[in-house]
Amino acid sequence: KPTLLSGIQPSGDLMIGNYIGSIKNWVKLQDDYNCLFSLVNMHAITVEQNPAELAKRSLDFVALYLASGIDPAKSTVFIQSHVPEHAELAWILNCSTYMGELSRMTQFKDKSQKHESNINVGLFDYPVLMAADILLYQSELVPVGADQKQHLELTRDLANRYNNRFEREIFKVPEPFIPETTSGGRIMSLQDPTSKMSKSDDNKGNFIALLDDPKTILKKFKKAETDSGSDIIYDLDNKPGISNLLTIYSVISGKSIPEVVQHFEGKMYGHLKVELGELVVEYLRPIQEDYYRIRDNETELKAILKTGAAQAREKAQATLRSVHEAIGFVLP
Ligand code: TYM
Repeated sequence: KPTLLSGIQPSGDLMIGNYIGSIKNWVKLQDDYNCLFSLVNMHAITVEQNPAELAKRSLDFVALYLASGIDPAKSTVFIQSHVPEHAELAWILNCSTYMGELSRMTQFKDKSQKHESNINVGLFDYPVLMAADILLYQSELVPVGADQKQHLELTRDLANRYNNRFEREIFKVPEPFIPETTSGGRIMSLQDPTSKMSKSDDNKGNFIALLDDPKTILKKFKKAETDSGSDIIYDLDNKPGISNLLTIYSVISGKSIPEVVQHFEGKMYGHLKVELGELVVEYLRPIQEDYYRIRDNETELKAILKTGAAQAREKAQATLRSVHEAIGFVLP
C-alpha cells in the first residue's frame, strides 16, 4: 500500500472545517493507504501556547481523531515531538530551502500580521518542518484543506530538488488530496463568510467546534451571516454565506449541492439554518459520545500514542539514514 500522512496543530478548538477539509478524508482513505496521522505540536508552538492547555488539548485532539473513525489498529497515530527525526530532517531541508521561497508563503504573511509581536524564526520555517513530516515517511498522498496547497507545493519542490541533486529517488514526491470548494476544501467563517473558518478564531461564533453542545450548534448556525435576497441558491460571489451553509449541508448529508438546493426550494434562509443545525447535531452526536469515552481512559490513549511513535520512528529512521548517506554524513 502507498503511504499517506496528514496532521493537525493542537491550537484552538478542533472544528467542522478541519473535519470536512481533512479528517473526513483520512477516515475515507484509511483502508487504501498505509496511514500516519500526526498531532503536530512542534508546529503549534510557532505561536505562543499556554503549556498546560497545549498538553491537554493535544490529547483532546488525538481522542477526536479516534472518535472520528481513525482506527489505531489500521493507522499509525502519533505526536510529532515523539519522533525527533522530524526536527532533524527539517534542519537538513533548511539547508536546501531559499529565504525567498519561505517569504512567499501566504500563511506566513497572514500569521505575521496576526502575531506582529512574535514573528519568530519557527513561524518562518514552519513549511520546512511540514515538508519533513511528509517526506520522512515517503508519503505519496497528503489529505488537507485548500489552505495547505502552497505548503504542499514547496514540499514537492524540495523532494524534486533532492532527487535531482543526488540523481536518485531519495524522497517520494507527494500529491495533495484537497476537496473541491463545493466539497468543503475551504469552509468559510460563519459570521464573516469571506474569510476562512479557523479553529483559533477569537470569536468562537465563527466556527462549529466538534465538541460544541447541541444548543450552541443551533445557536451558532442561527447567528450565521446570511446574504441579501431570500433565495437559497449556490452563488459564491453574491451569496457567500448561503453557499457556505449549503456546502456544509451537502458534505454532512452526503447529498450533492443541486440536490440540497432543490430540497430548500421555496423555503427561507431560516429553514436552512435550523435544518442544518439539526443535521450537524445528529452527525456529531456519536462522535462526541465516543470522544468522551476515549478521552476518559488516558492510560490507553497514551499507550496508543507510544505504539504509534515506535511505528513511525522505524520508518523515519530509515529515510533519515539514507539522507545522511546521500549528503555525506558519516554513519555512526
Ligand atoms: P491546521 O491545524 O491549521 O488544520 C488542520 C487541517 O484542517 C484543514 N482546514 C480546513 N479545511 C477546510 N476548511 C477550512 N476552513 C479549514 N481550516 C483548516 C487544514 O487544511 C488542515 O488540513 N500545516 C498544517 C498541519 C500540518 C500538516 C503536516 C498537514 C503540519 N504538518 C503534514 C499535513 C501534512 C496546519 O496548519 O493544519
